[in-house]
Amino acid sequence: MKKIGILTSGGDAPGMNAAIRAIVRSSLNKKFNVIGFKNGYDGLIDNKFVNFDRRSVGNIIQHGGSILYTSRSLRFLEEKYRLIAAKNLDKIDIDSLVVIGGEGSARGAKELAKDTKIKVVCIPATIDKDMPLVGKTIGFDTAINTALNAIDKIRDTATTSNVTHIVEVMGRNCGWLAILAGIGAGAEAALIPESKTDVDILSKRVINQLKSGKKGCILIVAEGSHLNGNVLAEKLKEKRILDIRITSLGHIQRGGNPSAADRVLASELGYAAVKSVINNTNNVILAKPLDKIKEIPLNKLKITPNKIDKSLYNLINILA
Ligand code: F6P
Repeated sequence: MKKIGILTSGGDAPGMNAAIRAIVRSSLNKKFNVIGFKNGYDGLIDNKFVNFDRRSVGNIIQHGGSILYTSRSLRFLEEKYRLIAAKNLDKIDIDSLVVIGGEGSARGAKELAKDTKIKVVCIPATIDKDMPLVGKTIGFDTAINTALNAIDKIRDTATTSNVTHIVEVMGRNCGWLAILAGIGAGAEAALIPESKTDVDILSKRVINQLKSGKKGCILIVAEGSHLNGNVLAEKLKEKRILDIRITSLGHIQRGGNPSAADRVLASELGYAAVKSVINNTNNVILAKPLDKIKEIPLNKLKITPNKIDKSLYNLINILA
């Protein structure tokens, strides 16, 4: 009988609980033992874990955060602590470890795999969506919706009072959150780490918008951008855009109930992780590539019946 360990690591992301639920239930369906390490990689070092049964993951799919808690373990960066973690895993006879987290967590998993025979499967979860090759990450969709919810409210007052608002979003060194928040909120601009914004051009654009009758502009600033909200505001003031307010959305983007998309993605990835364990897969991160826009000839629509995804339909029963 296999024994699976789970941990959540790094910055928490809404949907981590849905992934834990899916892994636990899919494992128990196969009569595997499944345990959860507390506080991310620190839990491996300190050998702190809980045993899971079906009910212990009941009523968690809708909650943000992680019932296993997380950490950004500084100790785990050191080889001596990784060796302690590897020894602990060997002692309790784990076959596979499923790591739910972002880029740093996946790097930690890669290092751990060097010190142990235990198979490692990663599930991408971060609100930053900053993981190359992986595409979708658990928590990103919820974070965008949370940001949009807040920006919509800012837009109400911006329009009414005719004030330019700068909204700072998270994302670490990656612009995805800012880009999608920018599109979704109908912002006037988004500043992202990957591209330098010319403040002269931006200020002219804002002034032209205001002249054309627009009331209140929204400018999104990603946290890793070359200018932060305060510096941008100062620079815009030099260009005679005087009435400016700054809001930093901060950690509210990390919390809250996961969106439908994140619950489904987490459930699919959690189930897929147990399939990887069954197949004895080692050292992988599971990915669901991005959907791309395609051109489909209209005449195909007539002859092709709409098909549901049967595997998703079956997942309801599997994880119930
Ligand atoms: O990786 C998620 C994230 O929220 C980033 O967007 C942000 O840069 C960072 O974590 C904040 O980390 P902490 O909560 O440790 O301050």
